[in-house]
Order: sequence, then C-alpha cells, then structure tokens
Amino acid sequence: MTTVLAIETSCDETAVAIVNNRQVCSSVVTSQIPVHQQYGGVVPEVASRQHLETINGAISIALEEAELDWGKIDGIAATCAPGLVGALLVGLTAAKTLSVVHQKPFLGVHHLEGHIYATYLSEPTLQPPLLSLLVSGGHTSLIYVKDCGVYETLGQTRDDAAGEAFDKVARLLHLGYPGGPAIDRLAQEGNPQAFALPEGKVSLPSGRYHPYDASFSGLKTAVLRLVQQFEKNGQSLKVVDVAASFQETVARSLTKRAIACALDYGLSTIAVGGGVAANSGLRKHLQAAAATHNLRVLFPPLKLCTDNAAMIGCAATDHLNRGHTSSLTLGVHSRLALSQVMELYE
Ligand code: KG4
Ligand code: ZN
Repeated sequence: MTTVLAIETSCDETAVAIVNNRQVCSSVVTSQIPVHQQYGGVVPEVASRQHLETINGAISIALEEAELDWGKIDGIAATCAPGLVGALLVGLTAAKTLSVVHQKPFLGVHHLEGHIYATYLSEPTLQPPLLSLLVSGGHTSLIYVKDCGVYETLGQTRDDAAGEAFDKVARLLHLGYPGGPAIDRLAQEGNPQAFALPEGKVSLPSGRYHPYDASFSGLKTAVLRLVQQFEKNGQSLKVVDVAASFQETVARSLTKRAIACALDYGLSTIAVGGGVAANSGLRKHLQAAAATHNLRVLFPPLKLCTDNAAMIGCAATDHLNRGHTSSLTLGVHSRLALSQVMELYE
C-alpha cells in the first residue's frame, strides 16, 4: 500500500490530502472564494498570495487528521499543470522542498488526471476503460481513459468551459460569483422551455457538425442579447426562466455529446468530474439518457468533483506504484495536453 501527501494549488483552492492508494486518509480544502468574490472572479496574483499564506497550515492539518508522521509517507505530489502559473508554483515548490527535506520521491500531477482519479476514490474497484466527462470552470472535455497515464481527448469545448459559461451568464444576470450554484438554484423555479437558446455546434470542414466538441460562447451571447432586448423594450425578464433555459441547453449539449462518444467508442461507463458535475440539470439529463442506452454514469460526491488534493494523491499513488517519479527540475505549465502526462515522469 502506497501513501502519498498531495498538494493542489492550481486555481483558488489551497488543498492538501493524504491518500493511501484509493482511500482518503485526510483531505483539507481551503477555498479562496470569499476573497475573490469582491472582484467577480479569480485574480491570479491574489490567488498566489493566498496559497502562500495557507499552505503550511494545511500541510500540518492534513498530517494531524490522518494521524501520520513523515515516516509513513511514501511520496510527495503536487499539481504542476494546467493552471495559474503563480498559484501552481506555490504548491509545486512546497512539494519539492518536502521531498528533499524528508527524502521521499516527488511527483508532478496533471490536474485533469486528478479529476479523472476522483472517480476511483468513490468507486475503488472501478477499472479503465471508461469515458470521463470533465466539466469545470476551466475545462470541458470528453476523455477516453485507457490506463494510468494513457488518455485520448475525444471532445472538448472550442471556447468557454461549461463552468465559465455558467459564471459569465450569472454575472450578466447579477447573480454573483461563482455563478453555477446560483443559476442551478434559480433554475429549479423556472421554466426550462421559456426561451429557445442556441446549442453551440462546431462545424467540420465537411460541413457536418463535430459530434463531440462543444461551444458555449454563442449561448452566452444569446443570453446577453435576450437581457438587452428586454431592457430596451422596458420589459422585466423572469430571471428564473432564463436560468432554467440556459441550464437546460448546457445540460442537453453535454449529455448528447457524452452519450454519442460512449456509444461510438463502446465505453459502458461515463464518469463525470469537475464542479459542473454538481449541476442538477446535467445530472437529470445524463442519468436519464444513460439509462435509455444501458450505460453506467458515475457522479462522485461533490467534494471530490470540485478541486481537491485527494484526487491528485490518488493519481500520484497509481504512478508511484508503477515506478513513475518526477525530476526535481520539473516546472509548471499553464497548459498541457493530457496526452503529454507521461512526459512528467522519469
Ligand atoms: O472543478 P471546479 O471546482 O474548479 C475548476 O474550475 O477547476 O469548478 C468550478 C466551476 C465554477 O465555474 C462553478 O460555477 C461551477 O463549477 N459549478 C457549477 C455548480 N457548482 C459549481 N456549475 C453549475 N451548476 C452547479 N451546481
Ligand atoms: Zn479542477
């Protein structure tokens, strides 16, 4: 059994966890949302400073809660890509320092591989192959999970990520940040058929539509036009109906693409990850469609779907068990394709 201390600081959560293979021994997540809320979104420099202030305390709490000392830790991991460079550097530097001081192997982890591994924490017996639908504030991807470190991205958004679209639409409806939970709450009281909004489609050179790629910027603009048109006509817009119609459109778009992908590639399990996995509309649509096609759909508990270090630790233990370790010269990357994961290891 391999035990890893993992750090995640790619965006606005300072997270530290201790994971024993697919079992969480402790998981500390300190959200910076209240700090960024006043700016209406994440401010990178503020995020880095917050990570610096919080990281050491979070490491101590993670060890205390797991009731472990450094002697029981087999490796130290940190997210190294993709994410905000300054924010990533705080976690990566802490992990490298601990690795040198305690003479433990060091591993850099790809953030999206972490999101994929969140499913293994809630379903420890699950094995690839499977289809991962990652929907967060920064990513919207359909990934064919073949093995540890072996991924093929089959579909993605061409512009805004699904969570980003929720946040932007919430901002133009004056619902605050983060927008996803606010829209989800209002959508419960609205009519999802009230407004016909465009489901963004990505054209191929052949003139047909890409079956798995999505686009959300046109949808966001359509909501903006709707708001402007109502303002111009002096009419009041029912925000609950806009929220419900927008959510319905996003949920339908993601469901259609995920189901097509799973069927085309013969994958019987769809594992959903990222903050948008919390969305009630997506859950309802995807579960209903999966049942129709005899597919299994897994939604890990919310605390594993949103950014956390336990998922990073779970991915790191699998790599360490296979003898993969990273060089102390490994740097951070704001962008890195999942197909390049194995370049992080020696
Ligand atoms: O995975 P996550 O915690 O952070 C990253 O972006 O990596 O995802 C955060 C995103 C935000 O855009 C937030 O608005 C969205 O997830 N979100 C939701 C819901 N809860 C969080 N979107 C729709 N419905 C929700 N219930
Ligand atoms: Zn994330």
